[in-house]
Amino acid sequence: MIDVKNLWKNYGNKVVLEGINVSVKEGEFITLVGASGCGKSTFLKLLLGTETASKGSLLLDGKPIKGEPDSDRGIVFQQYSVFPHMTVLENVIAAKGFAEKGITGLLWGRKRKEAKAAAERMLDKVGLSSSSHLYPHHLSGGMRQRLAIAQALMGKPRILLLDEPFGALDPGIRKDMHALVLDLWRSEKLTVFMVTHDLHEGFYLGTRLWVFDKLRHDPQAPDAFGAGITFDLPVGQTDPKHLETIEENMKEFSHD
Ligand SMILES: Nc1ncnc2c1ncn2[C@@H]1O[C@H](COP(=O)(O)OP(=O)(O)OP(=O)(O)O)[C@@H](O)[C@H]1O
Ligand SMILES: [Mg+2]
Repeated sequence: MIDVKNLWKNYGNKVVLEGINVSVKEGEFITLVGASGCGKSTFLKLLLGTETASKGSLLLDGKPIKGEPDSDRGIVFQQYSVFPHMTVLENVIAAKGFAEKGITGLLWGRKRKEAKAAAERMLDKVGLSSSSHLYPHHLSGGMRQRLAIAQALMGKPRILLLDEPFGALDPGIRKDMHALVLDLWRSEKLTVFMVTHDLHEGFYLGTRLWVFDKLRHDPQAPDAFGAGITFDLPVGQTDPKHLETIEENMKEFSHD
């Protein structure tokens, strides 16, 4: 589904990602870990299409990813990205409008009725049915992320990009969110890329774990080299002893 070939990304003189070669099959659940600032969010933005590669290519179904977001891909960020002046239901309907019509996406008449019904079904899926009339400031952090996920899924994406979506949540709530994401991954047949700072989360949720890190480092020129994927592991039922190896390596390689 996705083919990354010799991908490089730099901002000015700073090399962020270098020489990434990797392929992803439809239905995989990839978790991404790595030191802060190593380029995980940048990689997601390249998949989303809000950033473009400096060199190399990113192919989706054999074609270059367009330099703009598309309803093929939905994204959820750590920071809440909902509209504060709209209720939960209105937020999800608006997301449908944007997915269909872009930024001027207001829906009217029959279209709006259909969008409302679809939004209600989506709120049911993410467990927010009874909160559809509330405004975002009345929601807990976990509920707000449920809403953000509902919005991301309204465009019926094949690929869901999650950038530390649960980083700000309590452990108990996180567990509920893990169950939700696994459930949606299966029922909506998604391909998921999820950045996390929590290695255990990466191991537990993913079918495949990527560690982003620099392969080479020059203390005199910290911007000269970017990160690549230094570990690419099948996970899920992974032998826990891998975890220790990776934790050791992450310590060793974190230069910041
Ligand atoms: N638009 C931009 N312009 C210039 N530099 C940028 C831009 N976006 C990101 N960077 C730089 O690229 C590097 C990688 O950033 P990125 O946000 O991808 O890291 P990250 O791995 O997601 O970090 P974190 O775990 O802290 O979220 C950082 O050094 C950052 O400052
Ligand atoms: Mg980031």
